[in-house]
Amino acid sequence: MRTVAIVLAAGQGRRANTPRPKQFMELPEGPVLTLAIRRFLRHPEVDAVQVAVRAQDDEAYGQATRPFDDRLLPSTTGGATRQESARNALRALRQVDPQYVLIHDAARPMVRPKLISRVLTELQRSQAVFPTLPVTDCLWQSTADDAIGRPVDRSQYHRAQTPQGFHYADILAAHEKHAGENFDDDASLAQHAGLSTATVPGAPDNIKITTADDLRQLAQRQAVTRVGQGVDVHALGPGQGVKLCGVQLPHDRSLIGHSDADVAWHALTDAIYGALGAGDIGQHFPPSEDRWRDCDSRVFLDDAVARASSAGCRIVNVDLTIVCEHPKIAPHRDEMCARTAEACQIDVGAVGIKATTTEGLGFAGRGEGIVAFATVTLSTHLESIP
Ligand code: CTP
Ligand code: MG
Repeated sequence: MRTVAIVLAAGQGRRANTPRPKQFMELPEGPVLTLAIRRFLRHPEVDAVQVAVRAQDDEAYGQATRPFDDRLLPSTTGGATRQESARNALRALRQVDPQYVLIHDAARPMVRPKLISRVLTELQRSQAVFPTLPVTDCLWQSTADDAIGRPVDRSQYHRAQTPQGFHYADILAAHEKHAGENFDDDASLAQHAGLSTATVPGAPDNIKITTADDLRQLAQRQAVTRVGQGVDVHALGPGQGVKLCGVQLPHDRSLIGHSDADVAWHALTDAIYGALGAGDIGQHFPPSEDRWRDCDSRVFLDDAVARASSAGCRIVNVDLTIVCEHPKIAPHRDEMCARTAEACQIDVGAVGIKATTTEGLGFAGRGEGIVAFATVTLSTHLESIP
């Protein structure tokens, strides 16, 4: 094998302090570790990936790596420090004996193919290659006696990124030789060991997740919007009052249906199912089943909202149009919006309810029934990060 990428995933993520180590947290596109591994396995010049992981994270590792074939080599156990984890991974590759290794932090799931290529190209000329970025913020050096410290010339500094590339035999020997000493990353170890080094430009979007806020920002960036629409019609018949968006409106007729015939919430429920690609209301609550007779439509809406949440989505906004001559919607609009917002667990400002007539035309114009149209947008989001 020519090139193996080592992905270090044996940290505890103390600074991020998430319910699981940050490399196992879910982003909209998948767990952080899954994304990091995929970036390398998809690169045409990378032959295999070797991960270092703590023994107690075996189950999370198994889940995160389910999508991959045997180009993902059996994992190796991490160590107490990043350096130890890297050394273990390098040792695990003895049999494979690749020509080049790329050592990468699992906490950088956004690494792009171009950066991987830059590192590999430069490896033809140097024993060790590091991507770096200029420091763009002003830099201040803290001093013991002065709260603000002293400004520093930032042009003298740069930030180190991964993947860092090495000739396998050289970096393995360097790690073995300096096993007792502590280095921040493989670049500093390689430099200390006297390998010929070069830098290539890093990538600003190759961010390293350090804090929970980094995870949140990444989740935001990966979020996808899904749109759903729903339509429903119910006939008006003898009775007193109609229920729309969970609110009882006075009327001299009533909506006819198997359930409480809340046509507006039925349309909304279908819109949510639609955005999720999860069938429709008739499939989940068949009118042929007696247990849904006279059922409060809130039960249907709650089901759709719960499905959205378990699919990792949150509702962004709801837009409803109700078509009828009577009853008049406007006096009840605020209450209908409030009930809908509460059911959808969103701000009332994210719910629009509009009413229109058909100028007396058609079945709605003749007062034979009510039509409702709903549009909803959902956003994929991260599992809640404390
Ligand atoms: N890492 C590792 N083994 C260790 C420590 C770190 O494999 N003993 C990995 C982490 O999983 C991460 C990368 O090295 O992908 C960079 O380390 P860092 O961002 O410091 O992650 P953690 O050590 O997990 O976080 P913290 O320092 O906040 O505890
Ligand atoms: Mg650390």
